[in-house]
This record gives sequence, C-alpha cells and structure tokens, in this order.
Amino acid sequence: MGRPIILDTDPGIDDAVAFVVLQHYCPSDVRLIVAGYGNITKEHTVRNALTMCSLLKWDVPVLPGASGPQKGSYETAAHIHGTDGLGGLSLSEQEKKPIETDDWLLYLYETICSEGTVDYITLGPLTNLAMLFMRFPDSKKHIGRIVTMGGGIGKGNVRPYAEFNMFCDPESAAFVLREADHLALIPLNTTETVAFSLMQIDRIGQCDTVLAHALYTILKANYAACTAYGELGSTMHDSTAVLYYLFPELFSVRKCGIHVNCEKEPGNTELTDRRHNIILAEQTDPALLLEKIMACVMKEYTPHG
Ligand code: RIB
Ligand code: CA
Repeated sequence: MGRPIILDTDPGIDDAVAFVVLQHYCPSDVRLIVAGYGNITKEHTVRNALTMCSLLKWDVPVLPGASGPQKGSYETAAHIHGTDGLGGLSLSEQEKKPIETDDWLLYLYETICSEGTVDYITLGPLTNLAMLFMRFPDSKKHIGRIVTMGGGIGKGNVRPYAEFNMFCDPESAAFVLREADHLALIPLNTTETVAFSLMQIDRIGQCDTVLAHALYTILKANYAACTAYGELGSTMHDSTAVLYYLFPELFSVRKCGIHVNCEKEPGNTELTDRRHNIILAEQTDPALLLEKIMACVMKEYTPHG
C-alpha cells in the first residue's frame, strides 16, 4: 500500500486509459476521483468516470468537481474524445452513483485531511486544485506529491502556444504552478511521443476480455481523431503522467519555474527563473511506456474484493 491518491480528471479517452493503469498498479491507493469539466462537460466526465470504474470493477468514490473555469468559458475537446467524451462507450444508466454533496470542495478538503497526507494527480484543468488551495490554504500541508499532465514548452495542441489543460483555465493553472511547494509537470513535449499505433490498437482488439474490447473501440476512434490533428497516433497524455507518478526513474527531468500566460497567449507555459518549484519531465522511453500500458489493458481482470 502506497500513499493515498486523489485522482483529478476529465475523462476523456486518454484519462480512461490512465484509470486502467492506476487500477492495475495501485487499486487500493486511489481514495477519491474528482471528475470536473474539461474534455467534455462535468456531467459527462462524471458519467465517464463511473463507467470506467464499473468496467474495471473498481470501487472508488467519484466526486463531481468544477463545472467550468474560474474565469470565462471553455471549449471542450469533443472532436478528439467524442460527444460523450468516451468515444461512445459512456453508460447513461448505471448502478454506481457519484457522491452527492452541496459543497464538493469541502468534501474534497475533508477527505484529504482525513487521510493525513495524500498524493494528488491532475489529468485535466487545474481549476479544482486551484479552488482547493484558494479556499483551504492549509490543504497544501496535507498534499505530498503533485503530478500534473499539462503545458508545453514552445508548443501547444488546442492553440499553437497552449496545451488544453492549461488553456481551459490559465488563471487557475498560473496560481497552482506559482503556489505549489513542488509539482511535477508532464508536458506535451513528453506525452505526445507516447502514442498507440494502429498495430498496437489491433493487438488490444485481439485480446478477448470485456475491457480490451471496450478500449479497442475507443482507441480506434481516438487514433483517427488524434492523427487528423497531426499527432503520431492515439496519444496517451494522461497515462504518461500516471506512469511518471509510478516510475519517475523512467524520465529525465529538470527543476525550474513555470509561468502561465493569462493575457495575450492564455495557457502558454513559459520557463521562468522565479522559485524552482517545478520538476519538469523531459525525455522518456515511449516504447517501454506503451508496453506497460498495453500490459495493463490486456491483463485478465478479476473482480477486486
Ligand atoms: O492536452 C492533453 C490533455 O488535455 C489530456 O489530459 C487530455 O485528456 C485533455 O485533458
Ligand atoms: Ca485529461
């Protein structure tokens, strides 16, 4: 048993595969999933998180998070993840229900405090974490490692200068990357190299399990969408961040500060010499990471008691 984990996510097809990886390596460490807006609306990300937990027979509570950025509006990534955010896999009716509360942020804070110290993995916009730090500043002392998928040094995806998670809510991203005592950032420069080829997706399709069949369907759809936008294949941004959390030794890193532009080029993440509180992932071994993801997807799932 490792340290308790809070998973902050906007499923999303690549988030969904990251669920598979986390459930494979540390099923009982993940104590809470916070599903907020991002790739698709919060209503859909909550439903998609519940769908993936049901598919994985993974009994983790799902807490609906923020519905939008702290300022302004946002654009979904439905063109990459489908109108339901899960390539058509989303279950509208299901047994598992989300946590019902009229104060999700207080629920998140109290959960973190009750665990003593948690690690916090973000796979979507940084709105939830920024709101937690702003309303409950002492929450920082209950958070050990923060691992964040987001940003891009000199590159973007949703804009030439901005990566999607940072672009959704640049003010929240700027706040978190400035105020966090230490945070590992896994940027586009690293994650975009970790992409499933059609041959690898077909290997998954030949695996006769319910999970592999489901993922084959959504990865095929995601491959077409990603490559239409110039990516190498079905890009596993979020699994790369989760694998950094699990195997940091597989990455080269540098310490730095990151400034998030909120004016002319909102979401642009730039290196800065102000307080070196960021561990920036740089190089990894894409083939090794893809094999690890593949092994998680293709392993025979048995119900976890
Ligand atoms: O830019 C890629 C990131 O934005 C991934 O986390 C993807 O799921 C979307 O949230
Ligand atoms: Ca995501």
